[in-house]
Amino acid sequence: MDDNGIKKILVLGGGTAGWMAASYLGRALGPTVSITVLEAPGVPKIGVGEATIPNLQKVFFDFLGLSEEEWMTECNASFKMGIRFVNWRTPGTGAAKARPFGNGVDHFDHLFGLLPAHDSLPLSHYWTHKRLSGATDEPFDRACYPQPAVFDQNLSPRYLDGTRWASYAWHFDANLVADFLRRFSTEKQGAVHIEDRFTGAEIDQSGHIVAVSTEAGRRIEADLFVDCSGFRSLLINQVMKEPFLDMSDHLLNDRAVATQVPHDDATQGVEPFTSAIAMSSGWAWKIPMLGRFGTGYVYSSRFASQDEATEEFCRMWNLDPEQQPLNHIKFRVGRNRRAWVKNCVGIGLSSCFLEPLESTGIYFVYAALYQLVKHFPDKRFDPVLIGQFNREIETMFDDTRDFIQAHFSFAPRNDTPFWQACKELELASDFQEKVAVYKSGLGVSLPVTDESNYYGNFEAEFRNFWSNANYYCVFAGLGLLPDHSLPALNHRPSSIESAETVFADIRRRRDELLGTLPSTYEYLCKLHGK
Ligand code: TRP
Repeated sequence: MDDNGIKKILVLGGGTAGWMAASYLGRALGPTVSITVLEAPGVPKIGVGEATIPNLQKVFFDFLGLSEEEWMTECNASFKMGIRFVNWRTPGTGAAKARPFGNGVDHFDHLFGLLPAHDSLPLSHYWTHKRLSGATDEPFDRACYPQPAVFDQNLSPRYLDGTRWASYAWHFDANLVADFLRRFSTEKQGAVHIEDRFTGAEIDQSGHIVAVSTEAGRRIEADLFVDCSGFRSLLINQVMKEPFLDMSDHLLNDRAVATQVPHDDATQGVEPFTSAIAMSSGWAWKIPMLGRFGTGYVYSSRFASQDEATEEFCRMWNLDPEQQPLNHIKFRVGRNRRAWVKNCVGIGLSSCFLEPLESTGIYFVYAALYQLVKHFPDKRFDPVLIGQFNREIETMFDDTRDFIQAHFSFAPRNDTPFWQACKELELASDFQEKVAVYKSGLGVSLPVTDESNYYGNFEAEFRNFWSNANYYCVFAGLGLLPDHSLPALNHRPSSIESAETVFADIRRRRDELLGTLPSTYEYLCKLHGK
């Protein structure tokens, strides 16, 4: 290695982002670099049930050489095949507990995986045509995917012999994942773990960080500093003084109240999906894990006080607010103007945070790590590399922010001041263009239809993170339909006719799955040896 090579990295913070950073960078850079994680003792980790997206296995755990079975069993992980949005069209708080779904409970599903193609067009185009011509009133999710019916019965994304039939992601307790990765990176990769509190940083004349100091009197030098210190953003905001761009003009929610609720899986089953239940001033997540579920009400402090939100939340799950341990979380929505400044890179909450609504938190961590490795610097810290990295993070974040904002803007609910205020928020102009393209019947993004490689090819997925399937699931689910179907379809009557066989195949597949799949509960018990 030439003399300019980075030799020492300091990761500040030992939460999920910190240990993901240490293990990922350790694997990517090997023994040419030494990695130290400075973790303050006793800092509570924000981990109240996390939901992820499918590429986590291929682009993160496989990269580390960790099999799905190995980490899942260590982290009490469960399966997630998508998100069920409940009561986003009509009020009905509390109905989320009604079983079975479908009995009048307003919901739609946002599924993982791409849409099947027919005659080189995604199936969404044929569904739109049928729907707008009045030939069907079957909702988009149930017409185009077998999953919603499988959700209704809490069946598994895998057969007991391990065969998987759908793209899926995971739910887990992020604290367990952080512990697991800490053991992995200290024991298997030689990362150094220092438990001590950060007190300050030394800066050289060019504004680069030289070393950090600690409460116990340590001075830790490094070439590159990775800030994983969470919302306090000790290095990137406080030391480097990089401004945080607040985006509360796009997204209203800024608080959450969270807890865990015991659950009788044997009689009620384990849901293989995340629920996002609309509430009077926000929404609540429900993340099932074996024996319990994590839940939290994400709300806007402009429209509900902590007491009001807690009351509504506890009422929904039948909890006693006096007895139940509740975690009150305050968060900031937005991102740092630049994610990487000089020799300091923010990753995780120190860098950016959005609504947890589409489960992108952990994805943002490994996406930033992937980009950091791709744009990895030497001691010259070429501003071009840094600028390219920052542009990638910016686009990823802003695109996702717009997509999430659209959930609130297009939700038909209008029954409370919160939902009314959501309709007043302005969507970014390039997002309005995407909506116009959707309305035109053209499809919003490239019609990617080859799923086999989608969740493993980071570049392809990153460029196209919100594929057509995502827009159709959410927009059509909320009731926002294109103005007309793709005009070119008028000239392809035989494609329209033959698309019926694709819809019929989906129904056949659904019935076959319903008749043969094990329950999610059964699968997880076997996996976790319970
Ligand atoms: N690229 C992801 C996917 O299609 C997008 C995504 C993020 C997503 N969160 C999601 C899709 C939640 C469905 C549900 O898988």
